[in-house]
Amino acid sequence: MGQILDGKRIAESLRATVARAAADFTDRMGRPPGLEVVLVGEDPASSVYVRNKARACEAAGIRGVVHTLPASTSEQALIARVHALNEQPNVDGILVQLPVPAHIEADRVFDAVDAAKDVDGFHPLNAGLLFEGRAGLVPCTPWGCMRLLDAAQIEVAGKHAVVVGRSNIVGKPAAMLLLQRSATVTMAHSKTRNLPALCRDADILIAAVGRPEMIRGDWIKPGAVVLDVGINRNDESKLVGDVAFAEALEVAAFVTPVPGGVGPMTIACLLENTVRAAWMRAGLPPSELKL
Ligand code: GUN
Repeated sequence: MGQILDGKRIAESLRATVARAAADFTDRMGRPPGLEVVLVGEDPASSVYVRNKARACEAAGIRGVVHTLPASTSEQALIARVHALNEQPNVDGILVQLPVPAHIEADRVFDAVDAAKDVDGFHPLNAGLLFEGRAGLVPCTPWGCMRLLDAAQIEVAGKHAVVVGRSNIVGKPAAMLLLQRSATVTMAHSKTRNLPALCRDADILIAAVGRPEMIRGDWIKPGAVVLDVGINRNDESKLVGDVAFAEALEVAAFVTPVPGGVGPMTIACLLENTVRAAWMRAGLPPSELKL
């Protein structure tokens, strides 16, 4: 029987560290770090996520503002809003919540965000820095996965890490971070052959596909570490991950639950990125950040 990797508890501890760094920034700069979240339309799930992000900011001593724009907002108007936030000196982080309505090309919006304020780590400059293993802003969910591994004192170097899912938001950056830590990384996706056998070879398995309970207990290597990034509703409308949790817990050494695993880490890392962006914009070298 494995252990539940309690993301909620680990995220609380990270949030306390971030709150100290935010208070230090406020003392020295005379203003708190600031995050502005832009939501286009009123997708119910997104509205909840965005509200939670703003609340978490306030609790950490970060100024959090949500802009809700109508679903009919044009791409041009959204980009104009982003440009205006780029220009505001007291704004350290800009996050445009996904998904955006179909008439908006998300890539063009993310390209418009000042890379120094790109707390999502989605700007091509930050993606390129991550690719090269250089300091930049890293997407929150994969960064949260690495922090979970660290909190559980899991050695990454030399391990076989399998990342299932190749999105720009989770799969690809997660693979880069694992590679940087000297894991042997395999990226699996919808065209991968014999996925169960591949997963069974993983010492570290990251599931980020968005299919309810797709990864079964017999896909998991005994003693593996399983990080479940999925948030899905099953047929009974229950919130479940990409991994069959109870089955996985029988085999693995560690498994993250859904909810309460990777999700809380994403928000904590967003706060971390905001304070990191604030300090970097103020000229503090990243090596001196106590985060
Ligand atoms: N929607 C779901 N997750 C995310 C995320 O990490 N960033 C943004 N911008 N939108 C999201």
